Amino acid sequence: MRKSIVAANWKMNGNSQLVADFAQTQLQSNVAEIIYGLPAILISQAKSLGLKNIAGEDVSANKNGAFTGEISAVMLKEQGAEFCIIGHSERRQYHGENEKLLAEKWARLNEENIAVIYCIGETEAEYDAGITKSVLERQLNPMLAAGLIDENTVIAYEPVWAIGTGKAATAEYAEKTHQEIREIISRQSADVASKIRILYGGSVKANNAEELANMENIDGFLVGGASLKINEFKQIIEAFK
Ligand code: PGA
Repeated sequence: MRKSIVAANWKMNGNSQLVADFAQTQLQSNVAEIIYGLPAILISQAKSLGLKNIAGEDVSANKNGAFTGEISAVMLKEQGAEFCIIGHSERRQYHGENEKLLAEKWARLNEENIAVIYCIGETEAEYDAGITKSVLERQLNPMLAAGLIDENTVIAYEPVWAIGTGKAATAEYAEKTHQEIREIISRQSADVASKIRILYGGSVKANNAEELANMENIDGFLVGGASLKINEFKQIIEAFK
């Protein structure tokens, strides 16, 4: 039985007040793990106010040194991050991140025992061309080959056309794609494929969460915009009963 995860991805939003508000509310669930993906600069405050399961949103591929503006896995760990999102489509799109770089980031996180939330997903053009599965293979295969994916990895499937657009994937399409992701992983290990948590992300809202959550292969959500609103995020968590 895979334990559900509902992960927030604040992106470059939020502030100390919002951290304090979430810390005061202390959202809880008996069935789902709640993860807070926060701007790195808010992590230490979140931790000291008692928020658990904090994730960075990105990490440097380097251990330390002359890399102005970057944040290392060691630093994330020291501030209290237990997870880190990598490969978000915004990083791939605006910062040119590819699988080679992401494998290096992944290795840095492994060195610090920070669990990886690895984002994958096709663009609208790739969706229209009907090549989603081969895109997912391109994103997953190098990580499988490098031995980076294990049962503690969290995969976040986020079709780029659904992110921030209000146009979520249908539950049927997301379920079918999650099955394909499990199939790709099972080529290397059926055991890992059956245990790994695969989250759906892309315009998850209070009004579509339940239908998506009911799908067998959807083990949780990565939530952007709606994770900034305590009440809506709470309702999304409650979709997992
Ligand atoms: P969204 O973002 O929920 O605002 O669509 C999801 C994400 O990018 O993780």
